[in-house]
Amino acid sequence: MSSAAIVRLGTIKEVARFQEYLRALGVSIPCDSEIQHGDDSPLLAALQRGDLRIGNRIAINPMEGWDGTLDGRPGEHTLRRWRRFGQSGAKLIWGGEAVAVRHEGRANPNQLVIAEHTREGLAQLRAVLIEEHKKVAGSDQGLLIGLQLTHSGRYCRPNADGHPEPRILYRHPILDRRLNLPADYPVLSDGEVRGIIEDFHRGARVAWELGFDFVDVKHCHGYLGHEFLSGHTREGNYGGSLANRTRFLREVVEGIRAIAPGLKIGVRLSALDTIPFRPDPAKSAPGKPGPGIPEEYEQLIPYRWGFGVNEQSPAEPDLAEGVQFLGLLEELQISLVNITAGSPYYNPHVQRPALYPPSDGYLPPEDPLVGVARQVQATRELKQRFPKLIVVGTAYTYLQDFLPHVAQAALREAWVDAVGIGRMTLAYPQILWDAANGRTVEHKRVCRTFSDCTTAPRNGLPSGCYPLDGYYKGSEMAVKLAAIKKH
Ligand SMILES: Cc1cc2nc3c(=O)[nH]c(=O)nc-3n(C[C@H](O)[C@H](O)[C@H](O)COP(=O)(O)O)c2cc1C
Ligand code: SF4
Repeated sequence: MSSAAIVRLGTIKEVARFQEYLRALGVSIPCDSEIQHGDDSPLLAALQRGDLRIGNRIAINPMEGWDGTLDGRPGEHTLRRWRRFGQSGAKLIWGGEAVAVRHEGRANPNQLVIAEHTREGLAQLRAVLIEEHKKVAGSDQGLLIGLQLTHSGRYCRPNADGHPEPRILYRHPILDRRLNLPADYPVLSDGEVRGIIEDFHRGARVAWELGFDFVDVKHCHGYLGHEFLSGHTREGNYGGSLANRTRFLREVVEGIRAIAPGLKIGVRLSALDTIPFRPDPAKSAPGKPGPGIPEEYEQLIPYRWGFGVNEQSPAEPDLAEGVQFLGLLEELQISLVNITAGSPYYNPHVQRPALYPPSDGYLPPEDPLVGVARQVQATRELKQRFPKLIVVGTAYTYLQDFLPHVAQAALREAWVDAVGIGRMTLAYPQILWDAANGRTVEHKRVCRTFSDCTTAPRNGLPSGCYPLDGYYKGSEMAVKLAAIKKH
C-alpha cells in the first residue's frame, strides 16, 4: 500500500467518520460513539483480582529513557518524565521504563541501571510520581507501580561511545547479518546466562526494598528475555524445547520469590511477531526509505528463529506458543501480563504502528490501523482464553483523537483489563484521564506518530516528544534533532 493512500487520522473530525473508515478498511477495532464520564466510565472502574487492586483501567506502558547518567542514575529529564507518568492519572504504571540489571545489559549509554549506587535515584523516581499522582487523583490508593527489569541482549549499547556490544543466545540468519557479526561471534554460555539470572534476582530485591509493587521480567521487543523464547536452535539447558526456552523465566521467578517474597511479578510479552522487515530497495532512494517488505525467507523454511511467528509463512504471526506461554504464567501464579508485539528494531510497523517512520525505518507497508487491530485482536483472544489474568493492552497511540473511544469500548467489551499507552504518554499523558473525567481532549497535544521520540535517541539525544511537548521547543536538543533530520 502506498502511504499516500492512508488517511491521516488528524483530518477525521467525527467519531462516526472514523467508525466508517474502520469498516471501509475491514479492520475490527471496537469504538464507542460516546465517552462516558465519572462513575459510569469503564476507564475509571477499579479492578480487584485476589489481593491486587488497581484503582482504574489506565496504564502507562514502559517508555525507555536515554537521559540517565553514564553510570545509570536518573537525570533531570528522567525525573520530569516520571512526574508526567504521575500526572496521567493512571493507576497502573507498568514498568515506567526499561531498567538494566547490569551495566553491559543496557540498550543505550544513558539507560537506567538497578544497582546499589542507583538506589537513591530510583527511589526518587517513585516518590515524584506518587507526589504528582496524588495532586491529580486525590490519593495514591489503588496505585500500582512496577519497574521493568531488562537485559538488552542482541541490542546492548552500554558504553559512552554508543557502539553495539551484542550478547546473543543463538546465531540468527538475518539479525546477525544486520549486526555484522563474524562467523565466530560467541553466544552466551549457560553459565553466563545463570549470572544474568542472578542479576535479575538482585535487581528485584532492590526494587522490593525501594517499595515498588512489582517487577516486569521483560520478554519483548527482541531483547534478551524475548530472545530466549525464539532459541529453537540453541543447544543446552536454555534452548530447543519450549520448556527449555522458558527456563530463564522460571529460574528468574523462582529466585525473586525466594529473595523478595512480597514483590509481585509481571511479564511483558511480544506475543506475536514476524520475520524482520526492511525498506523495499526497488522503492527506496538515499535518505528516503521505501515501504517495508519482509526479508526473503524461501531458504529459511521452516522458520526456526522466531516466537509467535508462523514457521511456514513467517511474514505472518501465530499465537499458538503465546497461548502456551500464558498458560505457564498461570501455572507460575503470575497474574500481571502486558501484551505487545514484534520489535522496534526489525518490524516497527508491527510493534508501534506509525504513519511517519523513524529515521532508520521504512514507510508503513499497511495502514497503521491494521497494526493496531493486530495487537488489539491478539490481546482479545488471549484475554478470552485466560480470563483470570490481568491483561494490559498495547498499541493504542495511533488511534489519536479516537483513543478514548476505542479504549472505553475494549474495556466495556472485556477485551482487555487495562489500556496501556506508550507514545501518547510523551505527548499528552492525561488524554484518557481528561476524557473519562468529562474534559475536552486537547486536539493539539495528540500524538500524530511523527516518530521523533524514536529518531532522537537513535541519534544519541534524550527521548521525548519534540514536536508537541513545549519542554523541548527551542532547546539545544531540538536544534540538534532538526539538523539530524535534515541530513
Ligand atoms: C521512545 C520509546 C521508548 C520505549 N521504551 C520501551 C521500554 O523501555 N520498554 C518496553 O517494553 N517498551 C518500550 N516502548 C514500547 C512502548 O511501550 C509501546 O509498546 C509502543 O510504543 C506501542 O504503544 P503505543 O502505540 O501506545 O505507543 C518504547 C516505545 C518508544 C516509542
Ligand atoms: S515524537 Fe511525539 S508526536 Fe511523535 S511519535 Fe513521539 S510522542 Fe508521538
